[in-house]
Amino acid sequence: MFIRRRMKPILLVLVILIVLILSAYKTTLSADVTPTDLHYNAEIKSTSNSKEKLEQAHMKIKQLEARIEELEKKMSVKTYATVKFLNYQSRKKILITGGAGFVGSHLVDYLMKEGHEVIVADNFFTGRKHNVQHWIGHQNFELISHDIVNPLYIEVDEIYHLASPASPIHYMQNPVKTIKVNTLGTINMLGLARRVGAKILIASTSEVYGDPDLHHHPQTETYWGHVNPIGPRACYDEGKRVAETLSYAYAKQEKVDVRVARIFNTYGPRMHFNDGRVVGNFILQALKNESITIYGDGKQTRSFQYVSDLVDGLAALMKSNYTQPVNLGNPQEHSIQEFAEIISGLVGVKTKTEHLNSVEDDPQRRKPDITRAKNLLNWEPKISLKKGLQMTIEYFRNELESENMGRVK
Ligand SMILES: NC(=O)c1ccc[n+]([C@@H]2O[C@H](COP(=O)([O-])OP(=O)(O)OC[C@H]3O[C@@H](n4cnc5c(N)ncnc54)[C@H](O)[C@@H]3O)[C@@H](O)[C@H]2O)c1
Repeated sequence: MFIRRRMKPILLVLVILIVLILSAYKTTLSADVTPTDLHYNAEIKSTSNSKEKLEQAHMKIKQLEARIEELEKKMSVKTYATVKFLNYQSRKKILITGGAGFVGSHLVDYLMKEGHEVIVADNFFTGRKHNVQHWIGHQNFELISHDIVNPLYIEVDEIYHLASPASPIHYMQNPVKTIKVNTLGTINMLGLARRVGAKILIASTSEVYGDPDLHHHPQTETYWGHVNPIGPRACYDEGKRVAETLSYAYAKQEKVDVRVARIFNTYGPRMHFNDGRVVGNFILQALKNESITIYGDGKQTRSFQYVSDLVDGLAALMKSNYTQPVNLGNPQEHSIQEFAEIISGLVGVKTKTEHLNSVEDDPQRRKPDITRAKNLLNWEPKISLKKGLQMTIEYFRNELESENMGRVK
């Protein structure tokens, strides 16, 4: 109160002073300025006002442009390959275990383009996020980091169970884990299929035939195989044999709808570098102009299928009503020595080979009999060896260049 009472006269004096100063200033102005001057001044004032406003607008636009650019960079609008539209009834929810691997990632591409919802469960032991990078963010795609030795609880219509290391270098690195993935992992997936009523396809292998005897060449699905149960490859071969046994036990006892694909050697883009398998190794060595390493005399045979043929076969098998095992492979058989020459020729280098001791339990002959797949699935490989190898060599060449330039993939 006291302060307010003392301030009142001071404020009054201040107001009077301001009024006096303003009126004196006005008088001075009106004494000096003519009507022409006034008009001129007004014009200048309005011009400088509009200039100022224009500059401000420019500034604002620049700021907004910078902001949009920044947001665009953050969003980095991603484009995807075209996918078919499927209505609610025909669109399926499909789980692919090991979908970030070589075969799995091509299967992802196929099923995504067909318009399905695809879930990949992978622990990235031999797979790479890069293999499915081009689908990340798509509304129909999901990538789960999961080790299938542990149960997975999701709702799906179909399961492609591919999770397992596939090359000797990888599956021999941790034999116990290889057995676990093919036994516990398979039980988990069969259990999931039973719970949610999903159809399940197990990726088995021609290794279930082991080193086939001469009377069983080419190998038909009725051949029981010739496998060493305690050899270095047994963790994989016997693991897959148990995976098949488990599938038919679940089919019989729990009425699970199973499909078993016996996959023969497959090659194509996204194969592993340096995993010791024939095609990848030979291409890499030829591209680096190094000697091609052959284990043994090189007379042992293999038949290789291109990965897109395998993917077509897997999808056809899943669609079919056939529950017994089906061979999926290319019956065109070549000796390892011939492969070395074909690959060097396509890369454009002179063949140089180095022979090392043969590998223990390495099968001597391998060729699928695909009569069953032809008759029941109307499936057979379409890609010629030359075309498939050219596409794979191109992929390896690009990968090598990226690696040399230190690009991260
Ligand atoms: N490529 C071939 O020539 C061939 C031949 C016969 C059978 N197969 C079978 O096909 C399947 C795929 O083979 P690929 O060549 O694509 O091999 P790959 O190694 O490229 O792919 C296997 C995938 O399984 C994943 N995986 C491994 N253990 C896992 C675990 N515990 N939990 C979750 N994910 C796991 C890996 O990270 C990888 O992404 C395998 O089951 C293999 O046995 C392949």
